[in-house]
Amino acid sequence: MCGIVGYVGHRDCSDVLVNALSHLEYRGYDSAGIAVFENGDISVAKTKGKLINLTEKMKKEGKPKGIAGIGHTRWATHGEPSDINSHPHSGAKVTLVHNGIIENYKELKDFLIKNGRTFVSDTDTEVVAQLVDHYYDCINDPIKAIIRTTQDLRGSFALGIIFKDFPDTVFAIRRESPLVIGVGEGESFIASDVPAIIEYTKNYYLLEHDEIAVLSKDGIKVYDSHYQPIVKTLKTADWDVNAVGKCGYPHYMIKEINEQPTAIKNTVTPRIKDGMPDLSECNIDPDFLRKVKNIFIVACGTAMHSGMVGKYVMEDIARTPVTVDIASEFRYRNPIISSGDLIIIVSQSGETADSLAAMRLAKSKGAKTLAIVNAMGSTIAREADMLIYTHAGPEISVASTKAYMVQLSVMYLFAFQLAYAKGTIDEQKYKYYTSKLLETPDLVKDVIESTTEMAQKISTQLVSADSLLYIGRGLDYALSMEGSLKLKEISYIHSESYAAGELKHGTISLITPEMPVIAVATQSALYEKTVSNIKEVKARGAKVIMICKESDNVGEDVADFVLKIPNFEEILLPMLVCVPLQLIAYYTSVQRGNDVDQPRNLAKSVTVE
Ligand code: AGP
Repeated sequence: MCGIVGYVGHRDCSDVLVNALSHLEYRGYDSAGIAVFENGDISVAKTKGKLINLTEKMKKEGKPKGIAGIGHTRWATHGEPSDINSHPHSGAKVTLVHNGIIENYKELKDFLIKNGRTFVSDTDTEVVAQLVDHYYDCINDPIKAIIRTTQDLRGSFALGIIFKDFPDTVFAIRRESPLVIGVGEGESFIASDVPAIIEYTKNYYLLEHDEIAVLSKDGIKVYDSHYQPIVKTLKTADWDVNAVGKCGYPHYMIKEINEQPTAIKNTVTPRIKDGMPDLSECNIDPDFLRKVKNIFIVACGTAMHSGMVGKYVMEDIARTPVTVDIASEFRYRNPIISSGDLIIIVSQSGETADSLAAMRLAKSKGAKTLAIVNAMGSTIAREADMLIYTHAGPEISVASTKAYMVQLSVMYLFAFQLAYAKGTIDEQKYKYYTSKLLETPDLVKDVIESTTEMAQKISTQLVSADSLLYIGRGLDYALSMEGSLKLKEISYIHSESYAAGELKHGTISLITPEMPVIAVATQSALYEKTVSNIKEVKARGAKVIMICKESDNVGEDVADFVLKIPNFEEILLPMLVCVPLQLIAYYTSVQRGNDVDQPRNLAKSVTVE
């Protein structure tokens, strides 16, 4: 996934573009570039590597000077990260930036080569630039050329486009990939996401598929795919520029870990009425819940891990069958779905291609869809039948923490309402669970404070490990999945999560004194069994790090390091346990000197398959 920006206004365009891109680097950071109208021409500056490389290059060679242009930060899909593959890409009169994937770019490239065009890069994006240029040559109208081009394109795109013949004008169009149009005072913006423009304006339009925006000094015009003008509804972001700064923290990730108590409050509290969850504003009808036969929770990565917790809780208290699927598997395994089923799509960005495709598949099979999404107005949010927004605010660090936490909180809200609708819990239990959920923000705050020092200490035991295991049973197994992913993606240390009871069926052969094992054992009913599994690995020399409750007395023969969390309603403990798992990963990554917020090879949201 990439980040695109565009600007038309009264400020130094290069500065605005670079600043806006700095808030989109979480979307990809393999290369960066800008194109600005300068002295009647289009000046391009672009380079491989992070945005800092571009700013250094412009310091040395000079930056384009103008008041309108486009910019891009890349997560490579077609063509390796390199100067020549960096965006923007150009034709004779057209220059553009692109987020997405053009699936039929090869046939289009062949067509263009047959029509005398040559290419310098390996990218699908250059094909789009040359195709717009080709149709502009034929039609001599920029908007018609854009429309004609998109009729040939298959795949996803958000495009920022400038034409040499139309100075200080930026054109934009999207299909599948997100794009917002920022509305400022005498200035306008395009951006892949609101954090890029929040410092200039909170007001924006959301472009629908194949709508075209034209930004010029005369303001903003929007057209549909038939070149008919349309009026857009102005939206206003409900957070401010501080939300996208580090506010004194060394990294976004540790800032966002510390924002978790507030994120839970903002997500849960407004949805509690008379001591019970009320999701009516999310278009969720208790009657519908009562009749739900099967639930599928479909997501990717950390979002899928929140679904694993949801599964255990919903099956335990609502006695409803729940299947958790990785979205990229779900969409291709021809799932058995019927109209009485509910598909829950969980996504922080609301733009993950596999999760979006899974939701569309479910709808095509007649199932109802519920989206749990953090990004306002995102594609998944707009297409779901029912929608619960999480209110974590923008999550900038590629490693998801506060978004995971609020996904958990929504899983609980939903599970409690589902169980009450099904009659498997009475009102007293419903209110009890809800009251405990309302206690979690303060408890999470306490756990952050009480486990930070031990997490730092534990990270020193992991920093030189080549590989480690995370083990647990039940909810603790679901948590071990998230702990393992957090560590892998930011420390680059291999790890895997394993059901503690399954170890003896093969994987225990991996255990050596060099392989640390992080054991999560917070569920009383499973505690003794997990301790037995811990002893099995301890007996084979593993260094054991155990996460358990305050009240658990852990013998020295069991664990080398013990990290304790408060005793609390056990079904809600995942919201407390995930904190030390996040902190252990964070401090290990810091100790390894990694780029915590922008780990190698990753991007915040994967809007391509
Ligand atoms: C989270 O730490 C990861 N960066 C990643 O697994 C992420 O959860 C996944 O890509 C899903 O993203 P989404 O929630 O925006 O759909």
